[in-house]
Amino acid sequence: MGVDKKILVIPGDGIGQEVTAWGQKVLETIAVNYKHNFVFEEGIMGHVAIEATGTPLPDETLEKARKSDAILFGAIGHAKYDNDPTLKVRPEQGLLKIRKELGLYANLRPIKLFDELLEASSIKPEILRGADILFFRELTGDVYFGEKKRSEDRNTASDLMIYHRYEVERIARKAYEAARSRRKKLCSVDKANVLESSRLWREVVQELAKEYSDVETEHMFIDNAAMQLVKDPKRFDVVLTANLFGDILTDEASQIAGSMGMLASASVGDSTGFYEPIHGSAHDIAGKGIANPLASILSAALMLDISFGLKNESLRVIKAVEATLKQGYRTMDIANKHTENHYVMGTDAMGAKVLENLN
Ligand code: IPM
Ligand code: MG
Repeated sequence: MGVDKKILVIPGDGIGQEVTAWGQKVLETIAVNYKHNFVFEEGIMGHVAIEATGTPLPDETLEKARKSDAILFGAIGHAKYDNDPTLKVRPEQGLLKIRKELGLYANLRPIKLFDELLEASSIKPEILRGADILFFRELTGDVYFGEKKRSEDRNTASDLMIYHRYEVERIARKAYEAARSRRKKLCSVDKANVLESSRLWREVVQELAKEYSDVETEHMFIDNAAMQLVKDPKRFDVVLTANLFGDILTDEASQIAGSMGMLASASVGDSTGFYEPIHGSAHDIAGKGIANPLASILSAALMLDISFGLKNESLRVIKAVEATLKQGYRTMDIANKHTENHYVMGTDAMGAKVLENLN
């Protein structure tokens, strides 16, 4: 029996437009092949929404989001804002607002290297082989949402790093539950030697560690974690961390998966799940048709699994990506100049190969 689901697609800015089309096509193909009924709607957010409506997250998009069973998002941002910090209305505000409004407090970022991409990373293959990490990044607290201030003379600024006990506890529980179904190791990353909010974070995780005594708990400072991640990524299983640390650490960790263009993420919490590549809008290559669609396609795979409970369908998508890589097809970001039998292609050709492998 097939399932009925309503999916909101928000391509957003830059390469989001190009890659999200392929995440959607993969979902459409899965629906046909497995007799599910997926109904798609589209929403705007980010720079495109500012241009069209003056606001980065129009109410209409938020309403559609609340009524959908899952959301497939592309990317956000535009060069114009990056180089002008004085602009008050910014694309990223749309993304932060939708995370907060939908209560998406847990951002799951699985880091797993496809064997075919061992050579695509800047890290040595022998360090990478076998690495498999699941990040739990807290997504609705921290300096991202703490009070922001600027003095009257404009010469002093601050962002409040703030956490409440319940915020740490609810994501820590999710991370522990995930660790139970994996290798039963959890590394909580903080800066408890300096930050009070990190001391609260550690206190809460230490308490939960007793409850989850079947999981091995380790605490690590963020600076050390950043180093260990490239020194010995295999030592990590589940990594639990705060919003800002998780943002930085997962960009770093993308090198373990070969490229930013490979990493998918799932944001979950109170209601609708939200699925997006971890890469940004990449203005430098936007519109050129060369972006890697695999992170969007793998985000669609996460949606099938996490929001819809369609494990087989999700695995089918991952297998199709794997097969495509095995056949030697690569986008520019994962191409290895030194390897023969690689066919470097653009977004649409790559996406089409994955679809072929789905059938
Ligand atoms: C991410 C992005 C966002 C973040 C930006 C675009 C606001 O970098 O999802 O990792 O910092 O959370
Ligand atoms: Mg980021």
